[in-house]
Amino acid sequence: MKINLALLLKISLVFSLFLAYSCSGNDKNKEQDPAAVNEEAIKDEENKTASNFPKGEQIYVAKCEVCHQKNGEGISGSFPPLAKSDFLLNDKSKALSAILNGLDGEITVNGEKYNTLMPAFEFTDEESTDIMNYILDTWGNNGGKVDVVNGKL
Ligand code: HEC
Repeated sequence: MKINLALLLKISLVFSLFLAYSCSGNDKNKEQDPAAVNEEAIKDEENKTASNFPKGEQIYVAKCEVCHQKNGEGISGSFPPLAKSDFLLNDKSKALSAILNGLDGEITVNGEKYNTLMPAFEFTDEESTDIMNYILDTWGNNGGKVDVVNGKL
């Protein structure tokens, strides 16, 4: 009888240890799930901001990023920045003209002189609208919106 009681105590001790272990395991799993969900939410949020103008972004990545860089900061001395560019933000029609007709000769962007060559691009009015809105809206630029199709710059 005594021995059985001791055995019973041992078994219940082992059992409660097992319970404690599996409960803490459950807690861990519970903690992990919302974290995984949060990560997804953050990713979605990033994708959303990156694609305010997804068509414009596609054009930028394909045709502009090579010179003006992903972060829009260009390469000092060679390719002027579009991020916070006073040239772009002060005169949208001049900026659009640079894109459609190309640009050479000396220009000053954010106090730095450039005298290199920007190639001309053949864009439809829709594409011009998309690329302009993308560069006006990205990298903290707060340049408003254009509608080249309806002649609004
Ligand atoms: C081959 C390199 C190259 C590519 C590709 C290129 N640019 Fe440029 N871009 C330049 C250079 C160089 C200048 C400055 C030209 C000068 O010195 O007169 C410039 C100037 C500009 C300017 C006016 C100055 C400024 O920084 O605000 C804008 C706006 C601009 N580019 C937008 C674009 C857009 C939009 C695209 C893609 C459709 C593009 N560029 C593709 C090289 C490039």
